[in-house]
Amino acid sequence: MRNIYFLVVFLLSILISIHASLHVKYLPGLEGPLPFELETGYVSVGESGDVELFYYFVKSERNPDKDPLMIWLTGGPGCSSICGLLFGNGPLAFKGDRLITNFIMLSSVANILYLESPAGSGYSYAKTRRAAETSDTKQLHQIDQFLRSWFVDHPEFISNPFYVGGDSYSGKIVPGVVQQILLGNEKGLTPLINIQQGYVLGNPTVSANFESNHRVSFAHRMGLISDELHESLERNCGGKFFNVDPSNAKCSNGLQAYDQCISEIYIEQILLPNCKVDYVLPDISLPNIRTSRRRELKEFSGNDSSSLPPSRCFTYSYFLSAFWANDENVRSALGVKKGFGKWSRCNTLNIPYTYDIHDAIPYHVNNSRKGFRSLIYRQDYCFGDHDMMVPFSSTEAWIKSLNYSIVDDWRPWMMTSNQVAGYTRSYANKMTFATIKARSSKPFLSFFLSSLVEEDTLLIIIKTNVHLCSKDGLMVKLSEDSHSLLSLSKVL
Ligand SMILES: *[C@@H]1O[C@H](CO)[C@@H](O)[C@H](O)[C@H]1NC(C)=O
Ligand SMILES: *[C@@H]1O[C@H](CO)[C@@H](O)[C@H](O)[C@H]1NC(C)=O
Ligand SMILES: *[C@@H]1O[C@H](CO)[C@@H](O)[C@H](O)[C@H]1NC(C)=O
Repeated sequence: MRNIYFLVVFLLSILISIHASLHVKYLPGLEGPLPFELETGYVSVGESGDVELFYYFVKSERNPDKDPLMIWLTGGPGCSSICGLLFGNGPLAFKGDRLITNFIMLSSVANILYLESPAGSGYSYAKTRRAAETSDTKQLHQIDQFLRSWFVDHPEFISNPFYVGGDSYSGKIVPGVVQQILLGNEKGLTPLINIQQGYVLGNPTVSANFESNHRVSFAHRMGLISDELHESLERNCGGKFFNVDPSNAKCSNGLQAYDQCISEIYIEQILLPNCKVDYVLPDISLPNIRTSRRRELKEFSGNDSSSLPPSRCFTYSYFLSAFWANDENVRSALGVKKGFGKWSRCNTLNIPYTYDIHDAIPYHVNNSRKGFRSLIYRQDYCFGDHDMMVPFSSTEAWIKSLNYSIVDDWRPWMMTSNQVAGYTRSYANKMTFATIKARSSKPFLSFFLSSLVEEDTLLIIIKTNVHLCSKDGLMVKLSEDSHSLLSLSKVL
């Protein structure tokens, strides 16, 4: 696999870098012109500019000149920004076999820069084998470098309030990026990045050991294991549920029983069927997406329908994304470098990556000292409170471990007068924790929340056909066709 990767890298290294951004007007799979402004492009970073990072820039639909600018980082490490753009908070989504515009999106109120970092993610690549080697801390430097170069080419956005956001694995990267940008500004790097307020994290990783350890309490709180098994694990394992001492038979046996209980659970979202996540596309010449898609999906699978994900599996859309992102017309519409090899949704295994941030807590501590606000949220679709990969029990525990006092204690916040949307709690370090449980019948992000931190209010954006009930009992009607901005202090 690595050989293929380096062959790709080698092929790319003979391409000439063109530093042009592209304004995308049409996308294959979507009918009509794009109803939002999309720009894509590459920015060279790394010691000798031998890393090319690809980005998607979606302009705010409201007031791009004044609205905040947020860089959005996807997890992995090594997942494509398409995870954010098509499966997360972005303006596009798959519906069945079609691409549709998603009206529930961050770009209703903010300019969003979806970055594919590190090299090897999405359409980003390195020109040399050495440049392909990357790490958590290298990402911090390269993302800072990316941003300063991007602002040189986009001076009109320099004065917009700037935020950093991300989810999943980028829980380790985002707090470090905030610190890196601040240090760069203090050192006098130009252009100055207008980072003032804060950062947003969804279902974030903080430290792998921390998360693995909290899966047991998650499984108990979600009713996946019995009280008795939980008690026995607590009693016999001494609070450590990974890399256990094999001579501790009581603990090992308990963990075996635990593994059996969860073996058929889809760990990223325990309510979903345990579908295979990524269906690998064979290395055949990629067909043209404009012709009959059904037929081609069949051809892809070598006429073996058992190798196709069942369409009821949500991973079916992951399969479609690989089909879409590897299509020549899509690539040419997006301005992907000619000769770029195979795209995969999450390329984690093929990137020579060093995990050198073991714990993001010190970065959170430093950012809190500097007065940054943060919003840590758990969104349920996907994956929120039912995410066992990064369980809510670990998010709650690491926030607690920061030792900041609670200024607004755990309480529900409402979506409608009789529908709890989730729970929230705020801390003295200006960190807000919020869960979002509600979901409607929309195929993708039915209920969308994002939050941007502005001077002294957190803004929450919800674009869904529901009523919101504020703390003082005020009802706020939101329609599907228009979006509303509500201050979190009003909603919560
Ligand atoms: C699948 O079947 C069709 C029709 O029988 C055939 O034309 C096509 O070549 C087959 N595809 C593969 C990959 O075998
Ligand atoms: C936090 O800030 C201190 C003081 O500036 C610095 O020495 C330390 O390296 C920072 N921590 C991290 C993880 O960067
Ligand atoms: C929080 O308090 C505990 C107990 O006093 C201490 O061990 C821990 O280091 C503190 N955490 C931080 C981030 O300061």
